Amino acid sequence: MMNPSLFLALFCLIQISKLGFSFEEKVQRHEFVSVTNFGAVGDGKRDDSQAFLKAWEAVCQGGSSNTKLLVPQGRTFMLKPLAFVGPCKSSSISFSIRGNLVAPSYTWYVGRYPTWISFDSISGLVVSGGGTIDGRGSLWWGKVSTRPSAMHFNGCNGLRMYNLRHLNSPRNHISLSCSKDIHVWGLRLIAPGDSPNTDGIDISNSIGVDISDCIISTGDDCIAINGGSSFINMTRIFCGPGHGISVGSLGENGEYATVEEVRVKNSTFTNTQNGVRIKTFQNGSGYARKISFEDINMIASGNPIIIDQNYHDASKNGRVSSNQNCHLTQSFGEPWSKSLNGKGVKVSDVRYTRIHGTSASDQAITMNCDAELGCADIVMDHVNLVSATSGHQVFASCNNAHGSYVSSQGSCLTTG
Ligand SMILES: *[C@@H]1O[C@H](CO)[C@@H](O)[C@H](O)[C@H]1NC(C)=O
Ligand SMILES: *[C@@H]1O[C@H](CO)[C@@H](O)[C@H](O)[C@H]1NC(C)=O
Ligand SMILES: *[C@@H]1O[C@H](CO)[C@@H](O)[C@H](O)[C@H]1NC(C)=O
Repeated sequence: MMNPSLFLALFCLIQISKLGFSFEEKVQRHEFVSVTNFGAVGDGKRDDSQAFLKAWEAVCQGGSSNTKLLVPQGRTFMLKPLAFVGPCKSSSISFSIRGNLVAPSYTWYVGRYPTWISFDSISGLVVSGGGTIDGRGSLWWGKVSTRPSAMHFNGCNGLRMYNLRHLNSPRNHISLSCSKDIHVWGLRLIAPGDSPNTDGIDISNSIGVDISDCIISTGDDCIAINGGSSFINMTRIFCGPGHGISVGSLGENGEYATVEEVRVKNSTFTNTQNGVRIKTFQNGSGYARKISFEDINMIASGNPIIIDQNYHDASKNGRVSSNQNCHLTQSFGEPWSKSLNGKGVKVSDVRYTRIHGTSASDQAITMNCDAELGCADIVMDHVNLVSATSGHQVFASCNNAHGSYVSSQGSCLTTG
């Protein structure tokens, strides 16, 4: 028989060592690799790019216990244009931006660096942290014609991005391309209403993107969905000022472009140039279809509902082609259709449900569809807009737009 007190002592020892083990495990699992461990200063002036890249290397190529990169709170890190590149060893990498990031205090040659901060070929990336990312766009706007985007995620399947603030990008704030399964929420993207081409979020060649609970105030589209994109959901987006949420522009320079399965729900547009928009170039080919806008509130929005199949971009200055060289592209959409070649981008199956509020222009609904292609299967269900100016009546204008309406005022859709 073992001495009871010896037994107790042994038992306790085992429990303590177990405790110690699990505690250590916990620490390891929650361990962050801070950029300050690699020499980042965070005074907002000194160039911290190399320190960030070294920290990235440690996280991306490190073992499974070092998968979290930390940008500590209370400091501002100046970064030159740089790229965080995968693939990484771990299938889940966290990039926690608790402090602030700021772009250089000078402009650079965009031919070499079209993006300030880019993320390439990283699966399972989680970017969050509550920090502010300042692109210092005012150094560029109206001064440099070709400007960089602030952040670009290319080939980042499974990306999660939330709880961050982006300010004043030189061009678009966030670009997503060649990726699948993306969730974005709780972002604030802010730039002046008159800043050029400062889109909030641009999506191209991507499948399965869910964006919710974002506040976007910009000088261009709050969100733009470009060619090669499908299954894109946007919920509770507060847009304004800005040019609204746009499908397109599609088919620029005769390109073949396809977008389908897009839903915009429970969103508010305040003092925007447009509300929900589909814009395609007459010259292109492809299609935009299976698109729905539901429970949308307009507050003095300029063109609350608009389809423009004859789009011309007067302010192309500073845009870099959205064309991404990605292998995903080939698997999107239908094969090249000769019959559509250069004859326009087909628009069909577009549903507007419970769109209400006020229009800043008297023409609340614009369906400007191509004479040959037309727009097909447009449904307006409980669309009720009034003028933001008292005493004014709003009206709808349709060219070659076919579809039906339920309890919607002033519709001009033709059946067939
Ligand atoms: C988009 O919304 C639909 C309907 O709510 C849902 O079935 C689908 O999974 C969503 N897609 C994404 C990518 O979140
Ligand atoms: C149509 O595209 C061609 C190039 O494919 C271009 O040269 C022409 O200017 C375009 N026309 C219009 C009206 O955009
Ligand atoms: C959208 O708004 C409607 C009406 O306000 C509400 O009943 C519904 O729960 C909301 N849905 C989402 C996904 O926010």
